Amino acid sequence: MATLTQTEQDFTRLPDLPAEVFTAPLKKPAHVGDDWLEPKQTDYTAEDDAIWNDLFARQMAVLPGRAATAFMAGLEKLNLDRGGVPEFGTLSEDLDTLTGWSVVPVPMLIPDHVFFWHLANRRFPAGNFIRTRETFDYIQEPDVFHDVFGHVPMLTDPVYADYMQEYGRAGWKAMRYNRLKALGSLYWYTVEFGLLQEADGIKAYGAGILSGPTEVVYATEAESPNRIMLNVDRVMRTDYVISDLQPTYFVIESFEDLYRQTVERDFDKLYRNLGAGFTYANTAVIDVDHVVNRGSLEYTLRGGRESGAKPV
Ligand SMILES: [Fe+2]
Repeated sequence: MATLTQTEQDFTRLPDLPAEVFTAPLKKPAHVGDDWLEPKQTDYTAEDDAIWNDLFARQMAVLPGRAATAFMAGLEKLNLDRGGVPEFGTLSEDLDTLTGWSVVPVPMLIPDHVFFWHLANRRFPAGNFIRTRETFDYIQEPDVFHDVFGHVPMLTDPVYADYMQEYGRAGWKAMRYNRLKALGSLYWYTVEFGLLQEADGIKAYGAGILSGPTEVVYATEAESPNRIMLNVDRVMRTDYVISDLQPTYFVIESFEDLYRQTVERDFDKLYRNLGAGFTYANTAVIDVDHVVNRGSLEYTLRGGRESGAKPV
């Protein structure tokens, strides 16, 4: 029985956000409803399409051999190389055939409970806007390139697609226990910054890694970061960095293993035993860890992005 989620729950209804649960204070634009969906996808300019094409080309120079096989296959299955920002309607039709997912446009980051609701119904909310030339190298807010290029190819993998839906359904239970921070860590270290052990080495499947040029190389090859086999209890107690390269990555054996470790275990017990804050710093290596590579942490100790340290 799946216990990451409450199976008796009605996931078709937008959940209420319990008053005691903290989520980022986001101001809903006047033109969107409670579902936070844009009425339609943006009409991108020729410059927007050119930015997409340049971002795409930059990633394709670094991803082969470093991105998970499932991700590279997903890019191909969805013909994401056809040029310009992909049209969500076409993308959704293709995805629907493959795994029953769709891509829906949202104006900006959306509240956690709305995000959970869309995922639980196999809808992936993607930022409508695209970055500019000025923010070409780094933006904190997820844009259409991060969301569509980074996340959507993985949704063509059937097991991963199920994991993402279960993650959304897990939001209901995490809200009931007021443990969204812990569930957020799981998302961070899997969906955004996850690594996968493949036969010929460690590959990236996390969208935060795959949508930028520096972290792909750093996460898979650099000496600085720790690489530790994923243990859900441990990951949900671990803090993370939002605006810099990660000091630690967690590695899965397979998507089946990820699904087994998360969906098929007793989260009630885990949530009851979790404190409200994080136990482990994002640089920590602890006794229970199955360490793949212990990092030098040089990049982090030198002060990271702020200090201009090299991601070695
Ligand atoms: Fe993301």
